[in-house]
Formats: sequence, structure tokens, C-alpha cells
Amino acid sequence: MTMFFYSVVLVLGASLFAQAIARFPIPSVDCQSLPQASYPFCDPKLTPETRATDLVSRLTVDELISQTFYLAPAISRLGINAYNWRSNCAHGWTLSGGPDWLGYTWTVFPAPIGMAATFDKDLVLKAGQVTSTEGRALHNEIMTHYNGASQEATGLNCYSPVVNLLRDSRWGRAQETFGEDPYLLSQIGVAYTKGLQEGSDPTYVKIAASPKHFSVHSGPDNIRNRFTANTTLHDLYDTYLAAFKSQVIGGKAMQIMPALSGMRCEKEEDGAPDAANPFLLQTVLREQFGAPNISVVSDNEAIEQVYSDHHFASSYEQAAALCMNASTDLDLGDTTYIKYLPVALKDNLVHFSGSVPVDQWQSDKHAR
Ligand SMILES: *[C@@H]1O[C@H](CO)[C@@H](O)[C@H](O)[C@H]1NC(C)=O
Ligand SMILES: *[C@@H]1O[C@H](CO)[C@@H](O)[C@H](O)[C@H]1NC(C)=O
Ligand SMILES: *[C@@H]1O[C@H](CO)[C@@H](O)[C@H](O)[C@H]1NC(C)=O
Repeated sequence: MTMFFYSVVLVLGASLFAQAIARFPIPSVDCQSLPQASYPFCDPKLTPETRATDLVSRLTVDELISQTFYLAPAISRLGINAYNWRSNCAHGWTLSGGPDWLGYTWTVFPAPIGMAATFDKDLVLKAGQVTSTEGRALHNEIMTHYNGASQEATGLNCYSPVVNLLRDSRWGRAQETFGEDPYLLSQIGVAYTKGLQEGSDPTYVKIAASPKHFSVHSGPDNIRNRFTANTTLHDLYDTYLAAFKSQVIGGKAMQIMPALSGMRCEKEEDGAPDAANPFLLQTVLREQFGAPNISVVSDNEAIEQVYSDHHFASSYEQAAALCMNASTDLDLGDTTYIKYLPVALKDNLVHFSGSVPVDQWQSDKHAR
């Protein structure tokens, strides 16, 4: 049986770093194969949190780092299958970029701005439910064709919905949003997220939503990789954050995607790129929204761009460390984490606070 654990903070005790990279959900695990059938993470009587904690505690640091890449490789000694994190479902499932050779069809709903224009959250909830049912079906089909390894656009998560405030219609992505009103954005966004995530069995998440792009983002799109949005705390909390807060608290979104741009306000005078922004990701998201266990996925190549485009870091290594310190868990679209986290770790650029030194952490004891 293929299991999908959507669990979140996995208390490893070893280090903040390990906790940080263990926070994101763990892809499917094949519990039929020996020897893992006898391990606690394969015991269906235990809670998903306990099982996921057990599973993650068995990973070495190298294995944990390997899972920060969106094309997460299999860890066959533990029966963990490969998992491709890139999927989207803004108004129905999308196979763009994915394997369409099977010839499946699926439902395409009106663009989000049109769904919002219904002002009907029950209807949007249903659209989300259809989308997650079709997403699950596609996932199951693809898993049988690819021997348990998920492919692009057929995962159990998707980088949707877009709950950015449509503040400037020249942005170019107006159709992807639920509009300009923070209240409508919140209500329609939560309806869609619940439709995606909540199935008949509350133990499992149907399709994990990832509201984006957190948070001060409504263009300019052509310079988004290096743009820093200036805002005030008043504007931030009253408008830009409202829909994200609803997604996290009301919608219980499993994941969130920071914007590619940076953000500057009274509390964040450096204007850090959002994936490297501790005020946004730690203070606002994890502390003020009360979501310590939510997982954070970078937007495409955001971690690399902290150095290459924003010039906010002095090297890729520092960019990787800044993003991990800020608590971005998953690197979408580039290889900065898997290439540079091992180096950053050696150079003490990533925070370690636990009592178990990294060399012991990598020992056989932990590679059980
Ligand atoms: C976060 O995860 C830990 C470990 O599973 C759990 O004890 C805690 O209740 C979770 N916190 C929230 C707010 O969900
Ligand atoms: C934002 O503020 C910074 C610092 O005050 C300033 O240098 C920059 O030009 C401002 N950017 C915009 C787009 O207004
Ligand atoms: C990450 O955080 C640790 C602990 O605060 C600090 O020592 C380290 O310098 C930080 N890394 C970067 C690149 O700032």
C-alpha cells in the first residue's frame, strides 16, 4: 500500500536545521516492502504525526537535504518513493508540463477571477472538491504507470490558489487571482482551499493547497526576481496579509509559497526577498498566524535568485543559508539547496542549536 503522510513539524531534537528541513510533508512510502513493514511509521494504528516523526528521525542529514529538492529522490532503504512537487490547480487540475500521453481529460473551471465573480463560496468549494478528486485520480493512474514515483503535475499537492490582492491590473496575472477585495479574496480562497484539502476522511489531506505568492505581490511581473515592494505595516496587515491569514487559519493550508519579490516595511528594513525573509516567514507566518508546522516552498528559482538577481546574498551558499534560516523548506526549480546546503552546514552558516553535533547526527545510529 502506498501511504502519503502529510505531517509537519517533526521533532527531531537534533537541531533547528534538521527540524527546519524535516518540516515539509513526506511523500509516499511503500510499507509492504520489508524490512520497513515492522517500523512504527508503517503502523496504521499510530497517528500520522507519530508515523511521520518516526520516518523522518531515520533520515540522515544527507537524505534530509536530498528531500529539499522539488524532484525529491527515492530513499529506497526506507521505501520512500521519488516525488515531484511541481503541480498546479488554480481552476481545475492542470497537466501543463506533465505527462499527458495517457490521454486523460479533466475539468477546467473558469479562471479564478471569474470564479470569484460568482460571489458564491459554496460553488467554489465544489470546484475545489472536483479538482482534488480529479487530482487524486490522475495521481493514482500516474503512480501505477511510473512504479510509485509521482511525475510533474500529478502530485498530491498543488501550488494554488493565488490569493494575491489584485492591486494593479497591469500586473498581467489578474485572471489568476480572486480580485481586489481582501474579504472576497479570503472567503473565496478558503472555499477553494477547503475543497482541495478536505476529503471524506479527516485523517488525510486530499490535495495539499499552497496559497501564493506570500505576500506583497501584484506586479511588476517582468522584474519580480529583483523587485522589492515597499509597504507600511498598516497596509500589509489590512490588505495584503488578510487573505493569507485566512488561508492559514481558516483554510488550514498545508503549504505556502513566498513571492519572488522582496518586501520592505518598518519591521523589515533590509527588504529581504520573501523566501529569505524571516519577518514574513517566521514572525508573521509561523508565530502570528500560529502555524509553526506549515511548510514553505520557494517559488521557481527563488533561492538561487536571492544571490543571482536580488544580490541580497554574497554567494549561492549564503543564499541557501539565508532561505533555510528564514524557514523556506523546499527549493522549487533549481539546485541551490542540494548543492549548497552541505557547504553552508560545514561553514556554520546554517543554525544549529541542538545538543547532537552534526557528525554524530550523520552516524549509523541515525541511519537506522
Ligand atoms: C506542530 O507539530 C507538533 C509535532 O507534531 C505538534 O505537537 C504541535 O501540536 C503542532 N502544532 C500545531 C499548532 O499544529
Ligand atoms: C523602496 O524604499 C527604498 C528604501 O527607502 C528605496 O531605495 C526604493 O527606491 C523604494 N522602492 C520603490 C519601488 O519605491
Ligand atoms: C543563520 O542563523 C545562524 C544562527 O542565528 C547564524 O549563525 C548564521 O550566520 C545565519 N546564516 C546566515 C547566512 O545569515
